[in-house]
Amino acid sequence: MFLEKMSIDHFRNYDHAELAFSQGVTLFLGQNAQGKTNVLEAIYTLAMAKSHRTSTDKDLIQWQHDYAKIEGRIHKRGQSLPMSLIVTSKGKKAKVNHLEQKRLSHYIGNLNVVMFAPEDLSLVKGSPSGRRRFIDMELGQMLPVYLYDLTQFQRILQQRNHYLKRLQTRKTTDTTMLDVLDEQYSELAVKITLKRRDFVEQLAGYAIPIHSQISRETETLQISYDSSVNLTVTNTADEFNQVREQLLEELVQKRAREIDRGLSLIGPHRDDLSFIVNERNVQVFGSQGQQRTTALAVKLAEIDLIFKETNEYPLLLLDDVLSELDGHRQTHLLNAIQGKVQTFVTATGVEGIHHQTLANATCFNVDNGTINRMDEVDNDDR
Ligand SMILES: Nc1ncnc2c1ncn2[C@@H]1O[C@H](COP(=O)(O)OP(=O)(O)OP(=O)(O)O)[C@@H](O)[C@H]1O
Ligand SMILES: [Mg+2]
Repeated sequence: MFLEKMSIDHFRNYDHAELAFSQGVTLFLGQNAQGKTNVLEAIYTLAMAKSHRTSTDKDLIQWQHDYAKIEGRIHKRGQSLPMSLIVTSKGKKAKVNHLEQKRLSHYIGNLNVVMFAPEDLSLVKGSPSGRRRFIDMELGQMLPVYLYDLTQFQRILQQRNHYLKRLQTRKTTDTTMLDVLDEQYSELAVKITLKRRDFVEQLAGYAIPIHSQISRETETLQISYDSSVNLTVTNTADEFNQVREQLLEELVQKRAREIDRGLSLIGPHRDDLSFIVNERNVQVFGSQGQQRTTALAVKLAEIDLIFKETNEYPLLLLDDVLSELDGHRQTHLLNAIQGKVQTFVTATGVEGIHHQTLANATCFNVDNGTINRMDEVDNDDR
């Protein structure tokens, strides 16, 4: 798939911009704070109905305005598909093919994107909640029903925690409501956990060989989904039911502790992902470079996984990362995307960017919320 056109209104520092893109590499060049990340954020938000860098939608609206609008035309499977997203302080309106989508889970997934930004190092270095968010976003764009289940789970989790708090503070002593909640809670918790576990296994299948190539076969990566729910079963054909039974039993065993804490202690909201390089957790022991290679391998793996699941390559958004990758890693990246993946890159200058990337790229100059096509990039400065 590729994004043919995009127009943005009152989005961040853009009053209005209209852009037409080619299928290959698009480079946004400009000084700091001119709007380079904002334009990638607009593409990401068009795809995911959510920013990659804020959970406060209102921040996306240009100051002193009351809405932001992003419209795009996607080309996939030989057809053009218009998408639009309007953000107001009251909520979002998302349209595909001019039809409003009442559920965002029906909107997300029409346009697939993979973003690689400096913050993505936190995928490896950061907190478990960031890694869970990563899984949720990526799984959600491949499998919209997952987002629906996740929302349901979060609702039950909130109700369950609320009830546990009431028991903790002795506002009630009746636990029958908890039994009812546990039925729904266990079903959704296991659904989410197994989907995440499968996603991580598939992602690892792609990421491991990519990682090995980037590290020139000097390092081996392992990725595991660390679940708080016991996933060992004796009969894999009946996995869902077995895992659910185990969870229900454990909820009974832990009930006193959960009431004591006023919190749900077992479930996908407590899970994590570990990246192990050469037998050691790269989060704890990895060098900056090893962490970056791991994050890059995971992102490139996502491209392959999305292709496998949807039969279309996603868009790749590279914010400020190209010049941070050494020659070998850049070459690897370019080979991986060459001719298949529409790629958007931001940089403050052309230094550090592979000449081959530049030669094939369409360049835009970004200056204080305006974007202009550049005919020629001055290669001589390099
Ligand atoms: N809601 C908003 N309304 C208006 N301007 C905004 C809004 N949000 C952010 N900005 C402005 O957008 C500007 C550009 O931000 P952006 O992050 O895109 O810069 P950049 O070109 O990526 O810079 P850098 O090279 O430093 O990463 C910032 O100066 C910021 O003040
Ligand atoms: Mg930026």
